[in-house]
Amino acid sequence: MASSDAWNESAAAWIAHIGEDGDYGRKFVLDAPMLARIRDRGFKTALDVGCGEGRFCRMMQSAGIATVGIDPTQALMSRARELDPKGDYRLQRAESMDVAAGAFDLVVSYLSLIDIDDLARAMAKMIAALRPGGTLLIANLTSFNTASIPDGWTKEPDGTRRFFIDNYLEERAAWVSWRGIRILNRHRPLSTYMTLLLDAGLQLRRFSEPAPTGGDPRKQEQYRRVPYFLIMEWQKPAA
Ligand SMILES: C[S@@+](CC[C@H](N)C(=O)[O-])C[C@H]1O[C@@H](n2cnc3c(N)ncnc32)[C@H](O)[C@@H]1O
Repeated sequence: MASSDAWNESAAAWIAHIGEDGDYGRKFVLDAPMLARIRDRGFKTALDVGCGEGRFCRMMQSAGIATVGIDPTQALMSRARELDPKGDYRLQRAESMDVAAGAFDLVVSYLSLIDIDDLARAMAKMIAALRPGGTLLIANLTSFNTASIPDGWTKEPDGTRRFFIDNYLEERAAWVSWRGIRILNRHRPLSTYMTLLLDAGLQLRRFSEPAPTGGDPRKQEQYRRVPYFLIMEWQKPAA
């Protein structure tokens, strides 16, 4: 099954999973540091690449930023428009998106790089959309985490839970399933992302691996034991 069909088939389960507040990783790990990176920075326009059902677009709008969200999944775009009828949501893939060049103060990818098939083309489009001096803000699964695909958490014979990482340097895509969602996730070593961005002339301004800040204590333990997420902020050089 193509990755786009899988997203359309998973959309209803995804919308239920995300709910109004986001899933555990968004609500208790990523949202606060992501919002801290966009508030009071003078950003007026933002492009959210792989915006899904539009939650982070709505959050950016609450921070006074005008947003454009792009995503190739029809069912998620419909939901985004239903929740935000005045919002600007466009059914497009990152690799071929048609948005005004140099128009955005901020380009965001919130957990969407792992979904994108042709990373180099998508990254080139994202960078082209930024104005000179603009900011590219990325939240992604860490490459240590995606190197666990397909095994992830496993149980040893004595019942101890371990997180299984292997074949780190091998780029690959694998199906992952949970709560009625079945999608293709891509593993790439961290150097793939860093090299693309450095070679494009972007400058790394911030890097963090945010810790969980609340919620179910078992989840907190899980998110502390294993590297789940990273946040990177890159700047396009001023012209
Ligand atoms: C894990 S979801 C994240 C959605 C949203 N950013 C969020 O945090 O809730 C990944 C999203 O990437 C989208 N996607 C898949 N392939 C894509 C592509 N080639 N270009 C842009 N987005 C893509 C999917 O439709 C999905 O909405």
